[in-house]
Amino acid sequence: MKFHQATLLCLASLGTAQEVSPTPTGCTIDPSATYAKSAKLPDPFLLADGTRLSTKDAWACKRAEIRDQIQRYELGPKPTAPTVSAGASGGKITITSSEGGKSTSFAVTVKLPGGTGPVPAVIAFEGTSIPVPTGVATVTFPNHEIAADDPRGKGKFYDLYGATHAAGGLMAWAWGVSRVVDALEQLGADVIKVDAKRLAVTGCSRNGKGALVAGAFDDRIALVLPQEGGSGGPGCWRIVADIKRNGTKTEDATQIITGDSWFATAFTQYVPDTTVLPYDHHMLMALVAPRALLVIENSGIDYLGPISTFGCSVAARMVYESLGARDALGVSQASHGTSHCSMPSSQNPEVAAFFDKFLLGQESTVTDVQKTDGKFTWFAGQWIDWTTTTLS
Ligand SMILES: *[C@@H]1O[C@H](CO)[C@@H](O)[C@H](O)[C@H]1NC(C)=O
Repeated sequence: MKFHQATLLCLASLGTAQEVSPTPTGCTIDPSATYAKSAKLPDPFLLADGTRLSTKDAWACKRAEIRDQIQRYELGPKPTAPTVSAGASGGKITITSSEGGKSTSFAVTVKLPGGTGPVPAVIAFEGTSIPVPTGVATVTFPNHEIAADDPRGKGKFYDLYGATHAAGGLMAWAWGVSRVVDALEQLGADVIKVDAKRLAVTGCSRNGKGALVAGAFDDRIALVLPQEGGSGGPGCWRIVADIKRNGTKTEDATQIITGDSWFATAFTQYVPDTTVLPYDHHMLMALVAPRALLVIENSGIDYLGPISTFGCSVAARMVYESLGARDALGVSQASHGTSHCSMPSSQNPEVAAFFDKFLLGQESTVTDVQKTDGKFTWFAGQWIDWTTTTLS
């Protein structure tokens, strides 16, 4: 069956979106597939068995493969949904997740705009540092209660699934965001005024990595806004490794696994040579497609790997383009010196445009955003040896 982009968006808005979209029949994922090393960004249009994909159905299969790979190599497994119950009172929603005779609870705060609803909402990892338009609710998600940066295995996710669960912090946070979406769906607009079919997710820095992972692994989220996530977010491991080889201090894979427990312990064995990974983060971003994604980055901080986040996003945009959804992925990179998570007003129009088009129903808004003021030359040929292709 063939869907056009408009049809997909329309289906999503009719409420058929699920946390994990079903894998097409006949699509099998081989968990023990082995892969050749690749210095360049892996081809997102090639299946593990060597088949070149040409249809949107086959892309859905590739998507399932990427989900499997990223969980296995890097983030650890996201558990299937537990039983969730939710209660709202006094600007708070308390969410209880139960599984295997155990349960755990956390609360989110909800800041509603005036007027009658239903209104869209942005789920914000520990608060927002981007401008949220009037008319959009903010749901503040306490991600560090769900999983601590350090030590590994601490937090409500691990209370429920055990301290030795293989998911790292980023995936535990993504699980938490999905439970927030469950709660918003369950309570419904009549109770909390929030329209659970119009949700965005955002966060900055480590929380920007988290927001991207949450959006990639929950197909119910319409708009994903990672801010200054750097490596582990919209940056590609291969490109940032090259920045480091060239002598600039940056957050590459070997650095990122020290200290914080954001990744699965399995990732440690791959970080010395990330060319063994069958994916890179252009494919993590492509998991969001055709839903909306705006990558907000700062070109002024070397540690974020500016050429890596820009180039990786451009590569992801080629997948969006292949799906007929090019303008649903934007990348906006601007320098505001070394000041982290303080978005400059020059980026306001892009953020506003993405909210307008993908959350506030202003469908004619232009969201063709691909810009950087970075002092680098992005040479796609060094990293990409595949082309945009039209998936029918
Ligand atoms: C590293 O330096 C080489 C040689 O100048 C250059 O071709 C390459 O693009 C640089 N890599 C990055 C990520 O900037």
